[in-house]
Amino acid sequence: MMNTFELPGGDRIPTIGFGTFGSDHCAPEQMAQAVETALTAGYRLIDCAQVYGNEHTIGEVLERAIGSEQISREELFVASKVWNDQHAPGKPTLALKGSLSDLRLDYLDAYYVHWPFPNYHAPGCDGDSRNPDSKPFSAEEFMGVWRELEQLYDEGLVRHLGMSNMTISKLETVLPQCRVQPALIEMELHPSFQQPELFQYCLDHGIRPVGFCPLGSPNRPERDKTEEDVVDFDLPEVRAIAEAHGVHPASICLKWAAQKGAIPIPFSTTERNITSNLLAVNEDPLTETEMASLAAADRDCRLIKGQVFLWPDAHSWQDLWI
Ligand SMILES: NC(=O)c1ccc[n+]([C@@H]2O[C@H](COP(=O)([O-])OP(=O)(O)OC[C@H]3O[C@@H](n4cnc5c(N)ncnc54)[C@H](OP(=O)(O)O)[C@@H]3O)[C@@H](O)[C@H]2O)c1
Repeated sequence: MMNTFELPGGDRIPTIGFGTFGSDHCAPEQMAQAVETALTAGYRLIDCAQVYGNEHTIGEVLERAIGSEQISREELFVASKVWNDQHAPGKPTLALKGSLSDLRLDYLDAYYVHWPFPNYHAPGCDGDSRNPDSKPFSAEEFMGVWRELEQLYDEGLVRHLGMSNMTISKLETVLPQCRVQPALIEMELHPSFQQPELFQYCLDHGIRPVGFCPLGSPNRPERDKTEEDVVDFDLPEVRAIAEAHGVHPASICLKWAAQKGAIPIPFSTTERNITSNLLAVNEDPLTETEMASLAAADRDCRLIKGQVFLWPDAHSWQDLWI
């Protein structure tokens, strides 16, 4: 039995999900295989996005699983996200319908605004490239997208709405304007990047935090790596606790996230890792002392800086996170 959290309205969401961002090294067919392995292992929350370019192959797996009665639709929690180039009026609706068609579903359990900007870049572009059409955050622009998502929610095409890559100041501006409050917020979350204020803000507002890159995304593209980046698996606090429990540091990152009240969404192509990640959040919990030691391991090390979404006169990637 998968542990779950309750969402506003009474639906339940698994306490761990499966990520599906294959980056540059996992083709859509390989991702489908990984999702199939994850479903067999017991994952029921699948974190998708149109921009990941693999919803069509994941949809085949979901259709097969539901069709074979291995899993009922109600047991699954499938999320997707509207990409930055689909913010103009009418486009979020088309994007959602495209995801539904690719995923071979009648409704999504959650639909996120992937980034709070209409800024995008060519796939695989250089980290220093800038799109001259990119703009700073605008609450008005964001609310245009959100109102369209609220309409899709009213129509029953999506059961919960979510935001991603937000900050407290942006949330302060938009939450009072939302008729349908977000049930979920995706945020980068791993021991070396804990975002404690944003995390608490979500809990205080009845929003469940979903932690992306929960293992510190060790195989992210080279263009997303800098010399200052910390490796979570090498943090002394993580290593010491992993040794004490006789597990890989990955398990400690996931136990920590889940015990804090987040939903980690690790990705893996390896059956052994897929299974051990699921087990990690369901057995052998961390002690209060270990949780305190990990709280002190925060290095404020953001890995997904988003620099490719900067507008031409922006100073640095920090401008995205104000
Ligand atoms: N909302 C957003 O803007 C956003 C941004 C980034 C990511 N995401 C979501 O978050 C998900 C997770 O992030 P991520 O994929 O970047 O990073 P991650 O889950 O932190 O790390 C994934 C990597 O860790 C390795 N790994 C997994 N389990 C392991 C284990 N037990 N031991 C050792 N290594 C292990 C995997 O390699 P193997 O394949 O060899 O196991 C994989 O390459 C994404 O897939 C995506 O769904 C959302």
